[in-house]
Amino acid sequence: MTALVTIERHILDQQKRYPQATGSFTSLLYDIALAAKIIARETTRAGLAGILGATDSENVYGERQQKLDVFADNIIFKMNDHTQRLCAMASEEHDDIIAIPPHYGAGKYVLLYDPLDGSSNIDVNVSVGTIFAIHRKISRGARGRIEDVLQPGSSLAAAGYVIYGSSTMLVYTTGQGVHGFTLDPSVGEFLLSHPDIRIPEPPVYYSVNQGHEKYWTHGVRRFTRWLQGIDGEGQAPLSQRYIGSLVTDFHRNLLQGGVFYYPGDMRSPDKPYGKMRLMFEVQALGFIADQAGGYASDGIGSVLTIQPHHLHQRAPMFVGNRWLVEQAEAFIHQHDQDWVKAYGAYRDAKRQPV
Ligand code: AHG
Ligand code: MN
Ligand code: MN
Repeated sequence: MTALVTIERHILDQQKRYPQATGSFTSLLYDIALAAKIIARETTRAGLAGILGATDSENVYGERQQKLDVFADNIIFKMNDHTQRLCAMASEEHDDIIAIPPHYGAGKYVLLYDPLDGSSNIDVNVSVGTIFAIHRKISRGARGRIEDVLQPGSSLAAAGYVIYGSSTMLVYTTGQGVHGFTLDPSVGEFLLSHPDIRIPEPPVYYSVNQGHEKYWTHGVRRFTRWLQGIDGEGQAPLSQRYIGSLVTDFHRNLLQGGVFYYPGDMRSPDKPYGKMRLMFEVQALGFIADQAGGYASDGIGSVLTIQPHHLHQRAPMFVGNRWLVEQAEAFIHQHDQDWVKAYGAYRDAKRQPV
């Protein structure tokens, strides 16, 4: 009988490599797994629990919040606000960083999360997910501050996502490779099902919203034609798959090989950055891709090197097999210097003093 490796056992085994580990990090990942089980339960019965549909509130991006967005956001906060493992949290659904309530002790980690990714798909029963990232506290004093949150992806302690699909999976990395766990509802445990995930060669899919093609820069159009085997030689044309849930599109490409991209464009030159959120989507998936032998770029360079200047900063993202993403960079460098200049100015802006 193959060993049943629960997520707790796997994290503890990993922790043995860090003699100075206190177990706090292990418990934090366990808390996130527990929140995921609760969200999974609500997601699978959303149609019955009256939890489908939109609320009448909007988030900081001006997007209508779905009921499950708010539910997931609350669950993650409540599972982590009292554990004394965190000094602050930050959520895609909240304008500012989230302080740990003063009557609870603070810890040495920061949790950032997209509580529900792919919200527009909830009501049509398409897979959605949760994305999380963990930074270490770097500021002085007990309570977390914005500088603890606005760290580059290269400083991440851990990152992961949960996908609520035909099965519920949790995929995470602590910098020791990428590992996937599948929830066994009969025992309520995440069991190791995909150890040491590596993005395979050759790639099979490319994932982009072709409906935005009219806005694309010349370099992104050339890149897409190259992926389709129209321009350039070498690889077989890839198949197009786009679900509109980042976690789901990313997960398929992670397991089967391919590239997901949400490019920036010049339809509004003062907003050349596309839709993806650096702190709540791009950093976490960029770290996972890197750990799985892939690469994530904003079109200019690695997303893990971006020094964030704003909590809700956006970043274009090209992520998947390294050589595909590097080809995107080459086309953009060759054809899109006006975009590179406009986005580069946004990317490298200095953080506004609060
Ligand atoms: P969220 O539901 O957290 O706002 O994320 C939605 C994102 C991402 O999941 C997906 O890849 C993208 O929005 C789809 O955007 P388009 O509909 O513009 O393609
Ligand atoms: Mn999202
Ligand atoms: Mn979301």
